[in-house]
Amino acid sequence: MHVQRNIALLRSLICKQYMASKQLSSRNTVSLTGIDRWIRPEICELKPYYVPDSDDLIKLDAMENPYTWPEPLVDEWLEVLRNVSFNRYPDPASRKLKQRLCSSFAIPDTVDVLLGNGSDELIQMIMLAVSVPDRVILAPEPTFSMYRMITITTGMKYVGVPLQSDFNLDVDAMLEAIAIHQPAVVFLSFPNNPSGNLFDAETMCMLIEASPGLVVVDEAYHAFADKTFVSRMEDYKNLLVLRTLSKMGLAGLRLGLLIGDAKWLDEINKVRLPYNINILVQVSAEFALGHQHIFDKQARQICRDRDAMLAELRRLDAISVYPSHANFILFRVPPGRATEIFESIKSRDVLIKNLHNAGGMLADCLRVTVGKPDENRAFMEALKAAMK
Ligand SMILES: Cc1ncc(COP(=O)(O)O)c(C=O)c1O
Repeated sequence: MHVQRNIALLRSLICKQYMASKQLSSRNTVSLTGIDRWIRPEICELKPYYVPDSDDLIKLDAMENPYTWPEPLVDEWLEVLRNVSFNRYPDPASRKLKQRLCSSFAIPDTVDVLLGNGSDELIQMIMLAVSVPDRVILAPEPTFSMYRMITITTGMKYVGVPLQSDFNLDVDAMLEAIAIHQPAVVFLSFPNNPSGNLFDAETMCMLIEASPGLVVVDEAYHAFADKTFVSRMEDYKNLLVLRTLSKMGLAGLRLGLLIGDAKWLDEINKVRLPYNINILVQVSAEFALGHQHIFDKQARQICRDRDAMLAELRRLDAISVYPSHANFILFRVPPGRATEIFESIKSRDVLIKNLHNAGGMLADCLRVTVGKPDENRAFMEALKAAMK
């Protein structure tokens, strides 16, 4: 009896040792491949930026302009491309394009402009230029997710300060966070993505004055809002304004611009890769801006359709709709139903954005981009059917 118990004990010991050695060797295998040894832990924890498959769906998820160019304009553009020297590197400073951008966007000649492969790249360039471990980048939350993501990938700390329940700035909380964390950069999306509202401009001025470092006012949705901080650049030397051509109708080109004091931009320019604006982008954007009236007309149409959509959404009792100065609308559905409503709309071939999983203030929230009138109608019908 005694001997049998000892044999059983010995067996369980051998078994435990075997299991432990297996775990060790599987851990070693991971280390040998180098993933957990060499990739920074904060990168391993990140989820990649997710873009859903939108094949055959009405695409109202990404704040794009739904309109293309008239056929004669496409022909004219293709003619311009015919003369491009693809064998040569592009102008590294994109001088002609910058001149065109400055006149199109009425940028004063007291400030300078830096171009990026989309404004995403400019956000990354700003972060790379200021990156020191443990430095803080600060923004109100919820806001554009890339501020947080790029802060982490460039090795700094992100501090998000909750907005008020109506998505306006909590000025006391922001001032306190700025005083405590001394952020290298504060990002203010104006209008804010994903809420669509314009923060109070005077409150923003207080934050710019209280900030020890840079404040970047991100005007990605400027084409649909009637306010800008470009006119205030003279007053604040730590203010940079970010713009993009994506939302006005050139998302596929990838061109963003950072506007600000030359002293700041000269330093940020040092982290820019040479030739980041390729020749196709330089030539095509310059051509497109020569026909600005087309984009302006499209933006006016989108604003009219946005206001019509806001009015129609407000008539639905079960939904709370937030005011928008952008080309998208945020709305809240009854508790616990966001994913089911999103899927139901998708099953009717309309893709919008489900923000419910972001949690916090975005729980039960969906965001729809303003499309063409027939696309907006398809969305409204799908939403009404889903709400039944
Ligand atoms: C507030 C804000 N800033 C910047 C961007 C990035 O734009 P781009 O296409 O120029 O990289 C977006 C994109 O959705 C945005 O919402």
